[in-house]
Amino acid sequence: MARKIAFINYKGGVGKTSLVVNVASCLAKKGNRVLLVDLDTQSNASIWLLRIERWNRINLEKRGSVYSILEPAEDRIKDIIVKDVVQNNAGETLLPGLDVLPTTFNLLDIENEYGIDPQNPHYLIFNEQLREIEGDYDYILFDCPPNILNASQLGVFSANELYVPANPDALSLIGFTLMIEKLLLFYRRSAGFRTAEMGPFARVAGIIFNSIKANVDIGVPKMRMQLRINQFKKQRLVSNDAKIFNTSIRDATIVRRAVTLGLPVCLVGSRDAEDGVGADYEAVANELIEHPAGNAASDSVANAS
Ligand SMILES: Nc1ncnc2c1ncn2[C@@H]1O[C@H](COP(=O)(O)OP(=O)(O)O)[C@@H](O)[C@H]1O
Ligand SMILES: [Mg+2]
Repeated sequence: MARKIAFINYKGGVGKTSLVVNVASCLAKKGNRVLLVDLDTQSNASIWLLRIERWNRINLEKRGSVYSILEPAEDRIKDIIVKDVVQNNAGETLLPGLDVLPTTFNLLDIENEYGIDPQNPHYLIFNEQLREIEGDYDYILFDCPPNILNASQLGVFSANELYVPANPDALSLIGFTLMIEKLLLFYRRSAGFRTAEMGPFARVAGIIFNSIKANVDIGVPKMRMQLRINQFKKQRLVSNDAKIFNTSIRDATIVRRAVTLGLPVCLVGSRDAEDGVGADYEAVANELIEHPAGNAASDSVANAS
């Protein structure tokens, strides 16, 4: 069964999309079958991996993206996944095993125009369709926007684990606390739709510090975050296994260059990609693979006790 993992926080621009795209690519490079689900209306991950021309076609058609499974509700997830998304200009596959469920700008309509059926809400429709394909993957990663509004709910409801990218500043800590509150509200509201086979609601299992400049000491922000995690653990608001990742992602210009090239960092041939920030992404992927929260049995015991 796939590990379903949502990357979420309450602050934009912390490097969430960069982390999801690059970690997903590292997982695929190791031979895993990976689906990246883009739930951010800004479509950054979709544009990055599909590159602008292919993404533009989907955006203009208003079909073949996350929102089109809800409206006009004629697409199904299994039919609109873009397989082996990373290609060169000749259309040859560069990274077998990395698929994307793309989004386009119309996902914004899920927040207002879309008429949610209280008996069959958006996140339940999405969950049912996701279950048709989850056996095809080892990892399903959700790139969520920085809130718990309707688009994020698609990922949060279906995920079994949550990870929070953070920067070493006070806003990331405040955002973390706010996010936990909003998560609880959503879980209370959606509890009636949860079945035993879905497993328990996902709780935060890790914090990953991102875009760390070489001369910045993150000892104090890390300690503050750890104290907050300990407090939330006592209140059972985060996973028993919640931890700050040992690896932090360093700040490196190659991350921005990779976006322009339409490639994950691991496919940009350069020393930085191999020894520098590329090695950070790989180490985060390894920590994710080994994280105890990935052992569904241990987490459900934790949730039940
Ligand atoms: N490790 C990094 N080093 C340098 N720049 C980064 C790094 N991670 C992200 N960025 C840049 O920071 C900006 C925001 O990153 P992004 O991944 O889009 O964040 P989010 O998804 O949280 O909004 C982008 O321009 C991205 O290229
Ligand atoms: Mg983003």
